[in-house]
Amino acid sequence: MQIRQLIPNFANMAHEIEIIDAGKTEKYSSLFPQLQELVAHESDNIANLANIAAALKQQFNWLWVGFYLVKEDELVLGPFQGPVACTRIQYGKGVCGKSWEDAATVIVKDVNNFPGHIACSSLSKSEIVVPIIQDDIVIGVLDVDSEYLEAFDNEDSVWLNKIVKLIFPNE
Ligand code: SME
Repeated sequence: MQIRQLIPNFANMAHEIEIIDAGKTEKYSSLFPQLQELVAHESDNIANLANIAAALKQQFNWLWVGFYLVKEDELVLGPFQGPVACTRIQYGKGVCGKSWEDAATVIVKDVNNFPGHIACSSLSKSEIVVPIIQDDIVIGVLDVDSEYLEAFDNEDSVWLNKIVKLIFPNE
């Protein structure tokens, strides 16, 4: 029997992300072009989502950052960085399911005040979920959790929406 070998692509070497210690605007401004570069030469969506989650975690050190992807009638855990998380979320359930249902970004300043919030980690205190839209259909969400109250605002929404559009431009 002949064994087929997968040939590694050595032209595609690892990237280093430059992490800066600054305010939120500067952090996003510094990271965004690096993410553009990071995903520009890779066509595999899962690889790109994994690197985006890693880069966001490196720069912002949030408790949890990652993706849930729509599979049939539910959201299924995708690439992420942070503690082990729930694997499946129903349409309309939790913050992620709400973002999917409304096709809109949801900012939760205090998870205790969001009825139906799904607590994957008891450390999570605030959260933002951004829908990923392709051909006018929500195909997943980007979810970020913080261990601090009121960690996210409209600026995070603007940048994180720009970041998901790097991979899914919704054209
Ligand atoms: N809190 C989310 C569940 C996902 S975890 O935070 C990783 C929600 O309410 O949908």
